[in-house]
Amino acid sequence: MNTKRTFIRPVIDRDMKLYIETYGCQMNVGDSEVVLSIMQEHGYTHTTQPGEADIILINTCSIRDNAEQRIFGRLRELAAFKKKKPSLIVGVIGCMAERLKERLIEKEEIVDIVAGPDAYRTLPVLAGSAREGHKGINVLLSREETYAEIRPVRLDKNGVSAFVSIMRGCNNMCSYCVVPYTRGVERSRDPQTILSEVRDLFDKGYREVTLLGQNVNSYQWTEDGTDFADLMRAVAAVSPLLRVRFATSHPKDLSDKLIETMARTPNICKAIHLPAQSGSTRILQLMNRKYTREWYLERIAAIRKAMPECSITTDVIAGFCTETPEDHAQTLSLMREVGYEFAYMFKYSMRPGTKAFRTMTDDIPEEEKTKRLTEIINLQNELSLKSNQRDVGKRFEVLVEGVSKRDENQLFGRNSQNKVIVFPRKDHKPGDYVTVKVKACTSATLLGEEETAF
Ligand code: SAH
Ligand code: SF4
Ligand code: F3S
Repeated sequence: MNTKRTFIRPVIDRDMKLYIETYGCQMNVGDSEVVLSIMQEHGYTHTTQPGEADIILINTCSIRDNAEQRIFGRLRELAAFKKKKPSLIVGVIGCMAERLKERLIEKEEIVDIVAGPDAYRTLPVLAGSAREGHKGINVLLSREETYAEIRPVRLDKNGVSAFVSIMRGCNNMCSYCVVPYTRGVERSRDPQTILSEVRDLFDKGYREVTLLGQNVNSYQWTEDGTDFADLMRAVAAVSPLLRVRFATSHPKDLSDKLIETMARTPNICKAIHLPAQSGSTRILQLMNRKYTREWYLERIAAIRKAMPECSITTDVIAGFCTETPEDHAQTLSLMREVGYEFAYMFKYSMRPGTKAFRTMTDDIPEEEKTKRLTEIINLQNELSLKSNQRDVGKRFEVLVEGVSKRDENQLFGRNSQNKVIVFPRKDHKPGDYVTVKVKACTSATLLGEEETAF
């Protein structure tokens, strides 16, 4: 190898400070950590203060219109920083960058860089030319990019739980959803790179990993036939002290093999996020979800049978195109029937470019959507409280994440079911496993005390 260099180009990016702000889902959180890693390789250092940054990147979300409006608002606020420091570079990355492309540069004067989710390796180049006065854009989607070998720089504070991206993109084409357009086609990451990242995290003291993807169940590494259940088992084998979680799974791909693997492996957490979206088969068909209410309930029954203690959570959309009061009532009845531990609940928001946008009418009035969503939220609060009340008197192994915000003498952590439990600190610290008996609850939190074995 020739190591002699006659001319070393000065690293022009040295000592530049990068501030990054993340909106949207956990995938974006994971991506921001990849972006930071790429930028650090090119001499940038991370700052948590936008005021001292040389470059500000906003990692954005397009899932609903209000998500985008919030980011437009934030860009307006950032204009003040640029006024103070004209050399400041502002970049929009993530899903909104992919959806709006050059329109972002044309419409928002403050924006210098636009980079889509598969273009992050080119960010240092885009930033370099932005500093020379050239606005830059890269929104090419890739069939292969998984940032497989990049070690994300962790932005989380607790040092106990981390997200590990295992796949990118989505092929499902739910008719309401913009993700297949902003994130491209589905592709899985090399399992060896996943395992080495997880081992590294464990060695650094992390005790929980959440495997991430838009539809993790369809993970498939064709070279050696590893599917999602195989991958989960391999990750769980890294250490019995490492908890493994995953998000999100599409009901149509929730296999018996995965349920069995979860049931058999103690350190795979007993929690499944299984978005139903609606309880009406007619609406599910219009949404292109590829399952019926009955089929979904059969999957729930299979989970309950194998793992009676498993928590089940969901996403629900209120007021999708043509949704009647009867369809809505079916969503409420599905929620009651399953008895979800927790739910993310949304009003339908029409997204340009999607199948629903092209072929259906957003015909449920805003007021009606709000009314339905409120009913859904009220019901879920009731279900969450009931679920927590059922836990009073039970013992759980809790992985400590940190000190409670409200009381420094209390710690908080989660049980396998992903419920937050608060309990007296004693001499425990983040990363410890503590057996806690639940004494009381609210609809959001369990309150307990340590059980000492004797
Ligand atoms: N891939 C994941 C979720 C991705 S988006 C999955 O399929 O489960 C997260 C949630 O946002 C979705 O589950 C859905 O409930 C909601 N969502 C997506 N598009 C939406 C839209 N146009 N309007 C309202 N909610 C939407
Ligand atoms: Fe969107 Fe459906 Fe893909 Fe989830 S599965 S990201 S809702 S298209
Ligand atoms: Fe939003 Fe993109 Fe995630 S649209 S929800 S940030 S995949």
